[in-house]
Amino acid sequence: MIDITEELVLKEINTEDYNQLYNLMNEIYPLAYSHFWIDNGAWYVNSQYSKENILRELSEEKADYYFVVFNDEIIGNFRIIWDEKLPGLNQENQVKLHRVYLHQKTQGNGIGKKLLSWLEEKAIKKGYKVIWLDAMDEQPQAFQFYKKLGYKYYSHTFLPYNLLHKEVRKMSQIYKRLT
Ligand SMILES: CC(C)(COP(=O)(O)OP(=O)(O)OC[C@H]1O[C@@H](n2cnc3c(N)ncnc32)[C@H](O)[C@@H]1OP(=O)(O)O)[C@@H](O)C(=O)NCCC(=O)NCCS
Repeated sequence: MIDITEELVLKEINTEDYNQLYNLMNEIYPLAYSHFWIDNGAWYVNSQYSKENILRELSEEKADYYFVVFNDEIIGNFRIIWDEKLPGLNQENQVKLHRVYLHQKTQGNGIGKKLLSWLEEKAIKKGYKVIWLDAMDEQPQAFQFYKKLGYKYYSHTFLPYNLLHKEVRKMSQIYKRLT
């Protein structure tokens, strides 16, 4: 357990938690992204949060994977990959924020900002120079959030998934230099 504030805690996800993580994301993900997908995101959730994929992600040594707990309730996930480079960015010591999803009912209350500030502080202490992540361009909430926290555009790609509506396939890589 990592206490970020009195109410906000990160709880490490363990291998026996795979079903709990799946159920959580089966609720949270569609609330934010179902309109992106022809099948409302079912295929995406089933593949990203399958037992097999969760166990694979948990076995990655350079990654940390947490439940976000707010007032004793699990309300999201948070995954960090240390030493993961943004393709094309020539800088040592980069960390990727791989996943951050908070339940709709808790969004807009400063939790995301506290999580990212905590990550920044930890990364700086560990000698990291850059935090980066992938963000969907057509999800303005997330985009505005990162912009406000000082993240800048670096590059973009288009996701190849047939089930994803064509007009929302753009995904940008955004980053922040740590000082
Ligand atoms: C994106 C997300 C992580 C942001 O976390 P959050 O707790 O809702 O955001 P916060 O309340 O900490 O907001 C931090 C700042 O961003 C701003 N912000 C948040 N949402 C915003 C929006 N829709 N428009 C403009 N600004 C916004 C806030 O105003 C706040 O600024 P302030 O400190 O000056 O008040 C969260 O909303 C979420 O999980 N969304 C759904 C899933 C998702 O899209 N995840 C990102 C995948 S890349």
